[in-house]
Amino acid sequence: MEKVIVVKIGGSTLGSHDTTLEDLVLLQKRGMSTLLVHGGGQQVSSWFSRSAIPSRFIDGLRVTDAEGLEIATAVLAGLVNKRLVLRIQALGGKTIGLSGIDGNVLWASVKKPELGYVGEIARVNTTLLELLLGKGYIPVLAPICSGIVGDGVSLLNVNGDAAAGEIAAAIGAEKLVFLTDVDGIHDDSGKTIARLTPAEAQNMIGSGTASGGMIPKIEACLKALTAVRQARIVDGRASHALLKEIPNGSGGTTIASG
Ligand SMILES: Nc1ncnc2c1ncn2[C@@H]1O[C@H](COP(=O)(O)OP(=O)(O)OP(=O)(O)O)[C@@H](O)[C@H]1O
Ligand SMILES: [Mg+2]
Repeated sequence: MEKVIVVKIGGSTLGSHDTTLEDLVLLQKRGMSTLLVHGGGQQVSSWFSRSAIPSRFIDGLRVTDAEGLEIATAVLAGLVNKRLVLRIQALGGKTIGLSGIDGNVLWASVKKPELGYVGEIARVNTTLLELLLGKGYIPVLAPICSGIVGDGVSLLNVNGDAAAGEIAAAIGAEKLVFLTDVDGIHDDSGKTIARLTPAEAQNMIGSGTASGGMIPKIEACLKALTAVRQARIVDGRASHALLKEIPNGSGGTTIASG
């Protein structure tokens, strides 16, 4: 199939100034295939606090108990996903919202027992995504997936970065772009690093220079780079950040082999 650009947007950049959705519609009008994976960390945290559930993270991943899983599913696959679809359609885009559950797109196992209902993606079924992309839709995917827990199947919360990296690898995307709330990966002095090899990026985690939410992002880049030429981490708060990525972006951090 035609080359696809996989875009991940974070909860923190989903504000009203974000031009990502406009950019997606513009790219669609130009005949380009894009697939959007979203996070929603801020929105989930806000609903956790309304239910008096503390937000706890281990290596950038949200600890999710049974009640937290219900909230994460309702917020990510419900509110956040539907608002994105609504806005893309209002801008004239052709899109459909889904989660990793729908069409069996994402199948996971429990990542670490101490994280609770958090999935580690084991398999991506690209059938539904390819069908939608082939028909000109922008799939908008919420990072909730299915997996075995105990002796039954369960919903699992999965980090949006991980979902994007796995999907980009499985569909052989042209490029993977992370739009986040920083202008790329910073070094120890806070300076943005323009380019990293996969080994150098891995070392950023090992040394502790990359922490929290940057850990799953780097891991997702490393996963995607088995099949994708280039992964980019850029500032999603900048106007038309996504449009400027096509064909080649500037600023931010590029992770690529060689
Ligand atoms: N070396 C680093 N360089 C840049 N940011 C870093 C680094 N180490 C940790 N971070 C943190 O990673 C954060 C980005 O990840 P975060 O998970 O918060 O956002 P997101 O993934 O875009 O959104 P969401 O989790 O809602 O999908 C930055 O805001 C920053 O605090
Ligand atoms: Mg994150």
